[in-house]
Amino acid sequence: MACFFRRTIAAKLGRTLQHPEDVFIPAITAMPVLKKQQSPDFRLSVSTLRTNGILPSNGDIQLQTESLAKQLMRDGVVEVISAGKGVINFQVNRELLAEKVLEPFGKGEDDKYGLSSDLLTSLKRGTTLVEYSSPNIAKKFHAGHLRSTIIGNFVANLKESLGNSVVRMNYLGDWGMQFGLLGAGFEKFGSAEKLKENPLHHLFEVYVRVNKEAEQDEALKHAARDFFRQLEQHDDEAVSLWRQFREISVQEYRDIYKRLGVHFDVYSGESFHRDQAQEVVRQLQNRGLLKTSEKGTGILDLSPEGDPSNVCTVLRSDGTTLYITRDVAAAINRKEKYSFDEMIYVTDKSQANHFSQLFQILGAMGHPWADRCRHLPFGLVQGMKTRTGDVVFLEDVLDEARARMLHNMSQSHTTKELEDPEDTAEKVGICALIVQDFKGPLLSDYKFDWVRMLQAQGDTGVFLQYTHARLCSLLRTNKGVDEGEFNPSLLREVTSTNVLQHLLRYDEVLLQASQDLQPKHLVNFLLKLSHFIASAHRDLPVKGSPPDVAQARLRLFRGACSVLATGMRILGVTPVQKM
Ligand code: ARG
Repeated sequence: MACFFRRTIAAKLGRTLQHPEDVFIPAITAMPVLKKQQSPDFRLSVSTLRTNGILPSNGDIQLQTESLAKQLMRDGVVEVISAGKGVINFQVNRELLAEKVLEPFGKGEDDKYGLSSDLLTSLKRGTTLVEYSSPNIAKKFHAGHLRSTIIGNFVANLKESLGNSVVRMNYLGDWGMQFGLLGAGFEKFGSAEKLKENPLHHLFEVYVRVNKEAEQDEALKHAARDFFRQLEQHDDEAVSLWRQFREISVQEYRDIYKRLGVHFDVYSGESFHRDQAQEVVRQLQNRGLLKTSEKGTGILDLSPEGDPSNVCTVLRSDGTTLYITRDVAAAINRKEKYSFDEMIYVTDKSQANHFSQLFQILGAMGHPWADRCRHLPFGLVQGMKTRTGDVVFLEDVLDEARARMLHNMSQSHTTKELEDPEDTAEKVGICALIVQDFKGPLLSDYKFDWVRMLQAQGDTGVFLQYTHARLCSLLRTNKGVDEGEFNPSLLREVTSTNVLQHLLRYDEVLLQASQDLQPKHLVNFLLKLSHFIASAHRDLPVKGSPPDVAQARLRLFRGACSVLATGMRILGVTPVQKM
């Protein structure tokens, strides 16, 4: 595995430069593979050694590089050492490359590949709370909620696979004036039956209607305000109706998230913290942080001295709290309850200022963990529509993805052999959706495009699923052929080497993703892997090869298949066995 080679190179450097070998580990990277020409396996950055103070930073870097390359001894593991521009390149023994990379596979722990690497085990582990999805009851589940759902799920999966314990939290918009309207609206034109049958649809229907009618109907507006006041005052009847809305919605959310392969440990929400929010206001007052504005609202001045631009309202003039106040209360409550080591909020970038204020308030209140809270922002998606119109519910997107994929698949003859084509279409469709979303930097906006994302060729989720299914089929038809020890010297073609070298980078890709929380590193790694696998299918036939060659090649395919599957699962995709 990569770590074996990295360690060997680090030990060599340690001996030559008289430093503990560990300091060299982060400076050694597995090289991106170039398809056409042979690339070295690892590269050492000399400038990193200069910044670390291991080499003097005033000397000529090229002279240092060349002299260091000359001093390093080649051996049975590292066969070629050469100086490049400010870097030293290493090529390891080809047989060992195949042996070490493929060693972990076929032993029942395939999904652990790369995870015991020095790079990853040195990461701090702890409890990570990830808050994502967080739709608002009775309102539209828009593209932003969809993005938050899949991105948050990815972050949670990644953190979990790196050995953290993860709390997955959904923070529902389940409080506020919208429930006054909803309550009043439901009393006027709601139906208990419809609510049972199709809660999300019915609540949305009532909400749209009551909003519209309240524009002209003063009495209805009044009733809405009354209902919300009753809620705030814990009136039994109002609270019981509200609770019904919430519980029934959560039930349905659960089922739909399941289709997407997403689950939550906790369904929290703004309603949980409405009383604690008042307590927050008292604490702010005691600390002398709260001021009263001319309009009678409670405000905090978060700007650096002399700059009155960053003012945050935490209390309305009628004494009720706001979204931000509830978020402060929620954060404090989560810290007490889950004692997280880090907390990650996943929402679109329009809330960046909200979260920066939130973290500032927590800091000002004397919570040192405020700097372990992080907002992961993402850009906007344009044009997410289905054939029947706007997306209102998560279900709409999933149905559309499934229907379109099923249609595409009906063109292929293998679809007829599938046990459950709908289920396969759904899994492939979701993968397409996720890959489209994860390919670029999260912060970029992008245009939603059903046709492009569902293409079988090119860098799409369909291509990933297809690659996985094809590998599974190869392993199925050659069951047992790769059992036992294989001969690594039979994997010396450029095509094999490309796959092996690429697999060397897996731990670095996970490390990068864990640092900036961007899924693009992993997505692009898996897409590239799939391209190398496509060449391998072409150049390295299993059928008709001598048994020992067939065995070695299958081991290579098994390794590739397993890393592909594990990587896809981290992205939040269920790899299909057939398609
Ligand atoms: N429900 C909110 C919305 O739809 C998102 C909640 C984000 N999380 C938070 N802790 N404020 O915009």
